[in-house]
Amino acid sequence: MTATDRSDPPGTDPVEVAPRMADLDGLRSAAATCTGCELYAPATQTVFGAGPSSAWLMFVGEQPGDREDLAGAPFVGPAGRLLDTALGRAGIVRDEVYVTNAVKHFRFELRGSRRLHKTPAVSHVRACRPWLDAELRVVRPTVVAPLGATAGKALMGSSFRITESRGTVLDWNGFALVPTIHPSAILRMDPEDRDAGLDALVADLRVIATAGHEPRP
Ligand code: URA
Repeated sequence: MTATDRSDPPGTDPVEVAPRMADLDGLRSAAATCTGCELYAPATQTVFGAGPSSAWLMFVGEQPGDREDLAGAPFVGPAGRLLDTALGRAGIVRDEVYVTNAVKHFRFELRGSRRLHKTPAVSHVRACRPWLDAELRVVRPTVVAPLGATAGKALMGSSFRITESRGTVLDWNGFALVPTIHPSAILRMDPEDRDAGLDALVADLRVIATAGHEPRP
């Protein structure tokens, strides 16, 4: 077979498809063939959001990591385990929340056989946005919680600063939006600072839990 004989199956254009899908299963299977940006090619698979469509809370992370790329599910690696610990301490049940990412393919660079996380570019966040908008439209959570700067900027724009707004309840497009730190940032802290980092994440999650009981803004 020559290169010109090769015909890849047509991919899914999120701009065209995502706004037309009415439920999470349809969105998930459409996103599985997304070719909206170049990140689909080296990644193992699309990592779509997970959780019930009745979720009261939606966490938005940055992008899947190495473990998530292999497992096909968000926040199942070290950052996810830390998030689970913090959720437990704040009395939030993970099975009742929806967890997703601003970018749904793992961006990495190869160092030998290791795949090292690479922060997604603004163009990747933009290309993936129709999937996130569709998840918000279908789930309609009471509270949206961006985890870290990439997710915060994806939703609030480039002037968003996590240090200024974490743990505060903002009114965003009819949702209560409460930004907080990304669990990976705690994992990157010096060991002696990690307990305080986790305590601060739990404090933000308690604000989120309270916002979930308030009427929609
Ligand atoms: N970090 C993220 O932002 N998302 C994941 O799913 C895992 C790690």
